[in-house]
Amino acid sequence: MRNKGIFLGLLFAGLSLYSCKDQPENIVEVTLPEEQQEQKSELASPDSVKADGKFQLVKLPYTYDALEPYIDAKTVEIHYSKHHLGYANNLNKAVAGTDLESKTLEEVLTGLDMENKAVRNNAGGLYNHNLYWEILSPEKTQPSGALLEKINADFGSVDALIAQLSEAGAKQFGSGWAWLVVNKDGKLQVGSTPNQDNPLMPNVGISGTPIIGIDVWEHAYYLNYQNQRPKYIEAFFNILNWDAVAKKYEEAINK
Ligand SMILES: [Fe+2]
Repeated sequence: MRNKGIFLGLLFAGLSLYSCKDQPENIVEVTLPEEQQEQKSELASPDSVKADGKFQLVKLPYTYDALEPYIDAKTVEIHYSKHHLGYANNLNKAVAGTDLESKTLEEVLTGLDMENKAVRNNAGGLYNHNLYWEILSPEKTQPSGALLEKINADFGSVDALIAQLSEAGAKQFGSGWAWLVVNKDGKLQVGSTPNQDNPLMPNVGISGTPIIGIDVWEHAYYLNYQNQRPKYIEAFFNILNWDAVAKKYEEAINK
């Protein structure tokens, strides 16, 4: 009996060892598809992003991964569903119960009390990012029509405009934005502002209706480009939707 017990013990131990040896292969086969599925499901739909209150984000006109390889999906997702949503929610909180609640976002910005930091930062953040998403596109576009004529008249060429805008973005110290605006004389003008300030606000160094805004905050590019802001700005022009910019130009000169 004792020998039989020892034999059975050895048999179970052997089977256990065989089973353990076999496990890693099974784990690899089973877990790989699950990991892949998990990666895909990490990207939620931008349509589910809603601010709590009157002031809302623009609907993202494409999926989170549409701007790759120029801007990666994770950056777009975090930028839109966390940063941009945060500005909208904080603006709604800041204006709750005040006269500003009944104004449009543009009215809040043009009549801004610059000492009201909560409204300044968050109304700016909401407006700037609305513009940013609207003027990007996975489709390749080119400047045309009245906008192209005006760029050539005011800058000499599209390349010269891009060079000026790129320099404005690269030289902006710390977080901020580079802008192309239509100023009060109907002229195109390049400039930059710190933080979430923008050219609709009073006394920020550049004034007019923004038609291009380049977000040069690190959250816009750091995952892909780390500290290489100029490379991100170069990529930005590959996905700039010139048709959307032309539409904004027409609206600005017809205001
Ligand atoms: Fe941003």
